[in-house]
Amino acid sequence: MEIKNVGIVGCGTMGGGIAQVCAQAGYQVHVLEASETLLQNGIANMKVFLEKGVQKGKVSAEEKDAVLSRIKGSLNIEDLSVCQLVIEAIVEDMEKKRELFSKLDKVLPGHAILATNTSSLSIVDMAAATARPDKVLGIHFFNPAPLMKLAEIVETILVSNETVNIAKEFVQSLGKTFIVAKDLPGFVVNYLQYPFRLHAIRMVERGLATPEDIDKAARLGLGHPMGPLELQDLVGLDITYNACLSIYKETNDPAFLPPVLMKKMIAAGKLGRKTGAGFYNYKDSKQAPLKA
Ligand SMILES: NC(=O)c1ccc[n+]([C@@H]2O[C@H](COP(=O)([O-])OP(=O)(O)OC[C@H]3O[C@@H](n4cnc5c(N)ncnc54)[C@H](O)[C@@H]3O)[C@@H](O)[C@H]2O)c1
Repeated sequence: MEIKNVGIVGCGTMGGGIAQVCAQAGYQVHVLEASETLLQNGIANMKVFLEKGVQKGKVSAEEKDAVLSRIKGSLNIEDLSVCQLVIEAIVEDMEKKRELFSKLDKVLPGHAILATNTSSLSIVDMAAATARPDKVLGIHFFNPAPLMKLAEIVETILVSNETVNIAKEFVQSLGKTFIVAKDLPGFVVNYLQYPFRLHAIRMVERGLATPEDIDKAARLGLGHPMGPLELQDLVGLDITYNACLSIYKETNDPAFLPPVLMKKMIAAGKLGRKTGAGFYNYKDSKQAPLKA
C-alpha cells in the first residue's frame, strides 16, 4: 500500500511535531484537533519552528511554504477518510484513545493503518476497540519530533507483519531510524529512562544534590545531551507522572513509582517549561538553563 495522505490526531507537542515531519517528507497531512483555537496554536507552532529553520539556513523559505501548504487542519474526523495512515497523538488516556480508535475505524477505508504515539499505554487495548486489530500498532516518536532521530515501532500480539513492514518503510521515509519494541509498558526507551529520571527527582527530594548539579553530573559525567531534570521540565511533570504511574500499576515495579515531590509540584502548577516553572524557573529567561 502506498501512503500519500497521513492523518494526525491532536496537534499538541507531539502531534504538531509529527505533522511537520510528515509534511517535510512530502506527505499530504491532515491534522484533526478538538477546537479551532488549539488547531491554530498547533499550526502557529509549526510555522515558528520552520521560520527558525529558515533563519538558521537549514530550510529555504520556499521549502517552509511548501511544507505548510501540505498541512490541512480540520475539526471533522471524516476529513481523515482520505488517509492511508493515521497517527494518534491525543492525551495519554486509554478511554479517550479507545473512543477515538473506534470512531476512526468507522471513518477510514479498510486498508488504512492506525498508529498510536502513546508513551506507556497498552496498544492491543486500542486495537481491540477496532475491527482491524491487525492494522493497529505503535509508532512512538520522541520530543521534539522534528529533531529526534528515532521512532519505536511497537508490535502488538495481533498486528500483522505486513503492517509492521509498512510502518518500518514509513519511518525510514521520514529520515528516521526505527527500533522494534513489544507492546509492554515503557517499550524500550522509556523503560530505560523513566527510572533514571524518577531517581533524579528522588535525589532532589532527599536533598542529596541540587537540580543544577544533578544535571551537570549527567551531562558532563555521563555524556547525556541534557540532564534528567532539564529534560523533565521540557517534557512536563504531569506527562511523566501519569506515564510512570501507569507503568507502575501494570508492572508493580517500584522503579516506576513517582516520588511524592512530583505530586506536590504538579499540585502547585510547576509542570516545567509549559507553566513557566518546574525544577527551574523559565519566567525570567536568564534563569533558564537551556535556550528555547
Ligand atoms: N510530550 C512528550 O514528550 C511525548 C513524547 C512521546 C509520546 N508522547 C505521547 O504523545 C501523546 C500526545 O502527547 P502531547 O505531549 O503531544 O500532548 P498535548 O497535550 O501537548 O497534545 C494533545 C492534543 O490532543 C488534542 N486532543 C485531545 N483529544 C482529542 C480528540 N479526540 N481529537 C482531536 N484532538 C484531540 C488536545 O486538544 C491537545 O492539543 C500522548 O499519548 C503522550 O503520551 C508524548
